[in-house]
Amino acid sequence: MKASVVANKEFTISKIDDRLYGAFLEHLGRAIYEGIYEPDHPTADENGMRGDVAKLVKDLNVPVVRYPGGNFVSAYDWEDGIGPREDRPVRLDLAWHTSESNQVGIHEFADWCASVGTEMMLAVNLGSRGVDDARNFLEYVNHPGGSYWSDMRIANGRKEPWNVKLWCLGNEMDGPWQVGHKTADEYGALAANTARAMRMFDRSLELIACGSSNADMPTYPDWERVVLEHTYEHVDYISLHMYFANPEKNTGNFLTLAEKLDTYIETVASTIKQVKAKKRSKRDVYICFDEWNVWYHSKEQDRKILEGNSGWPFAPGLLEDIYNFEDVLMVGLILNTFIRRSDVVKIACIAQLVNVIAPIMTEKGGPAWAQTIYYPYYFASIFGRGTALDLQVKSPTYDGKHAEKAPYVDVAGVHNEEEGTISFFLVNRSGNEEAEVELSLQGFGAGQVIDHQVMTHNNLEAVNSARNQDEVKPRKGEGAAVNGDVLSVKLPPYSYQMVRVKV
Ligand code: AHR
Repeated sequence: MKASVVANKEFTISKIDDRLYGAFLEHLGRAIYEGIYEPDHPTADENGMRGDVAKLVKDLNVPVVRYPGGNFVSAYDWEDGIGPREDRPVRLDLAWHTSESNQVGIHEFADWCASVGTEMMLAVNLGSRGVDDARNFLEYVNHPGGSYWSDMRIANGRKEPWNVKLWCLGNEMDGPWQVGHKTADEYGALAANTARAMRMFDRSLELIACGSSNADMPTYPDWERVVLEHTYEHVDYISLHMYFANPEKNTGNFLTLAEKLDTYIETVASTIKQVKAKKRSKRDVYICFDEWNVWYHSKEQDRKILEGNSGWPFAPGLLEDIYNFEDVLMVGLILNTFIRRSDVVKIACIAQLVNVIAPIMTEKGGPAWAQTIYYPYYFASIFGRGTALDLQVKSPTYDGKHAEKAPYVDVAGVHNEEEGTISFFLVNRSGNEEAEVELSLQGFGAGQVIDHQVMTHNNLEAVNSARNQDEVKPRKGEGAAVNGDVLSVKLPPYSYQMVRVKV
């Protein structure tokens, strides 16, 4: 099979916001406890944070991490996580039917973020609480001192405010599973009032209203319209979530979920435009895709705990999807979609970061390792910064469950002008045929391949594990070359590749 791509320096989509490669950590399962925090672990630092996990996170150069939930946040009292650890209460977490020890709270999380070089993105509880909780938490986190909450932060050991810019106004409020679930009108009114109060404190905050939990919600896409009609002048982003599953084990169909994602983004972008026009507004609202990943491998094994048949365990293994090689292709396609939609999707968070539907796994007292999906996320985060190119792609197509005429060859390209590089991320969705791809590079001058990484495997179900951490890993590619202004590359069946060209 042959495919062709035109990349022209002048045809661009948008400057990519670095925060497109963000992540998410929730008080859920072993994400925090035994994930980032394990005081008895041989690699733990003086704060009890695992050094091996911190290293894997640092390598990803994660720009921002959303915290503390997720469904968890909708019944969370952030005050439980401050002050001396021995005085912190144990609470029942209704979202995941577990017990929360509160040994990690905002101080510990903030210190961890600083240690791994990432920014915080905090969610306020608009489920069981509201405006008051949000304004108090904001004062605690961002006010320099001289007020009740800021002085309490100082007394608890943190003199400087953290100056967190990004705030999520609740989580998945369209979901009946959410504590404090609301209609679009109820939530829109609350989100607008909360945003108003938060802006009275600091007009420069970046605020995110909840959009739909997924594109199959019965309230989608009217939810976005109604919420934005309430909040358009007060927020900067509307959030979207989507999880990708292949329970039928049909790879071709699974991989066309990328087209469903694309349509989801396009639809909400249109809704934003519609509300903007209706409001005669001058400002822009963008999409913050703050939960995305493959999630289905662990559903059956979690049933007992989630249905409440295991009591209220502390930090049990939950949502521990073990990712396979097929998921590498899906995650590559998702990231390519975000790059191509970077004009409207400014922030995105892989959900989640450690142990819970995560690229990084840990064993209690044992190793931490990279799951298969770590690698496409790594390549996009490290090399996908710059300007997204508006590529013209011609590829043979196929019809799948979620899309007709899905191109077998999926490509995204990022031009980094400062470095003088173009990074191409390519996925071959054909399981039968190699793809010979010719990319015509227009207006960039002479080019030379400086890096070529390939992920392929003869078993779509191959996984990495604590004892076999390198089963699915990138290897150096061969044969990609620039002749004149044409980059030629061959994609084996079912493969993910990154090719970087110095221009
Ligand atoms: O990421 C896991 C859960 O998925 C989050 O808590 C929730 O927001 C979503 O339903």
